Amino acid sequence: MVRDYQAPDWQQYRMDMHAPHRQLEAPAQEIAVVEAALDALVHTGILPHREYDDARLLAHRAAVAERFDIPWTAITPRMQRFIYAINAIHRPACMVAVGIFCGNTFISNAGAAIGPGACYQAERLIGLEIKPEEAARAARNVASVDPAGQAQILAADGLPFLEAFAGTIDLLYLDADGAGGRGKSVYLDMVTAAEHALRPGAIVLAHNSVNLAGPLAEYLAHVRQGTPFGGSVNVYLDGEGLEVSRFGTGEGN
Ligand SMILES: C[S@@+](CC[C@H](N)C(=O)[O-])C[C@H]1O[C@@H](n2cnc3c(N)ncnc32)[C@H](O)[C@@H]1O
Repeated sequence: MVRDYQAPDWQQYRMDMHAPHRQLEAPAQEIAVVEAALDALVHTGILPHREYDDARLLAHRAAVAERFDIPWTAITPRMQRFIYAINAIHRPACMVAVGIFCGNTFISNAGAAIGPGACYQAERLIGLEIKPEEAARAARNVASVDPAGQAQILAADGLPFLEAFAGTIDLLYLDADGAGGRGKSVYLDMVTAAEHALRPGAIVLAHNSVNLAGPLAEYLAHVRQGTPFGGSVNVYLDGEGLEVSRFGTGEGN
């Protein structure tokens, strides 16, 4: 059974990728849609509850809008709020994001632990970007809200990094598009490479689960088949979508 949450207007909700900070709807509407998506994750056992601090999310949002150099992004305000909330609720000690481009997706996750929206203390926040010039831009952007340098932004290929990772990952965010025509199908290689490091109860987020469901078919089948992932929800907040999966079939969190 494919589990999903679909905002009633996900097909009409549109953002200009070059103007990502523009308000698209009433705040109450954005909050309600994201709460309904979080409810779906609670119902599936991926999150323990749906509570997060709206004022901190808004402080995070304002800092990113003021300080980040973002040439374009597909992360809509709904998706920014949703990713922030998942991190604020799950509180990953170790968060790894792969394919972070200019750093906006990285900070949507890490903003729950660093900067003005921080609500907990993480141990490791790692962002990987294969293009050195984008990794450098991401590092500059992240430093603007993380003067203590808690986050690690690495100009590196995420696949060998995950294969060799010796620690434990509590939240993995996937957004890379593989070279040589592999596109988003590289997510399957990446999650497989990371599984030895995922803590039981870890959350894996996969961007583009809606608009790129075709190239992601094998990845989506893997996280939805019942093992080693114990629950997975395809969240249609916007036209891009996010697959949210919980690693492990036992208790653990
Ligand atoms: C489509 S962009 C992500 C943009 C993001 N969704 C946003 O809206 O800001 C994908 C990024 O993944 C990077 N990438 C591709 N393959 C990678 C790999 N193997 N490891 C790390 N980064 C990779 C690309 O250089 C690119 O910057």
